[in-house]
Amino acid sequence: MTKVVCPGSFDPVTNGHLDIIERAARLFDEVVVAVLVNESKQGLFKVAERQDLLGQATGHLPNVSVSSFDGLLVDFCTANGISAIVKGLRAVTDFDYELQMAQMNSSLTQVDTVFIPTTPAYSFLASSLVKEVAKHGGDVSGLVPDFVLAKLKAKFV
Ligand code: PNS
Repeated sequence: MTKVVCPGSFDPVTNGHLDIIERAARLFDEVVVAVLVNESKQGLFKVAERQDLLGQATGHLPNVSVSSFDGLLVDFCTANGISAIVKGLRAVTDFDYELQMAQMNSSLTQVDTVFIPTTPAYSFLASSLVKEVAKHGGDVSGLVPDFVLAKLKAKFV
């Protein structure tokens, strides 16, 4: 049985994240979506809110669960019997840093990273951009699930 992790900040989850999570769920037996707890970086959404939104967004996927972690991702993998990290690649600009992290993680614990190319329709999508557009009243419907859209609107009233 192959258990993998989709790690990230997910502040908040976007349709681009969901695209990768859904495809990982088709490829692997079990997928853990893990939200990074980053004490030094205050997000728009609290970690518990991010987990709740991810839970709603992945509720239709029986082999997907949602968790959180702090510290090293490889330690989370070891503690949870996870054999691979799944990351989405939007463009070549993602690749340099993602390759560096994949090689560092592999050198630390031999956990491998599997890259899934983002569906082109979402290749420009990032949580940071969604927040910026939403903050200034722009339309981000179609880029995030409806319940995330409602939460974003509530944050920026
Ligand atoms: O959604 P993000 O912010 O791009 O996700 C980045 C994340 C959480 C995957 C990455 O920062 C991470 O793995 N952080 C955990 C700390 C860690 O293991 N650092 C060493 C990476 S080589």
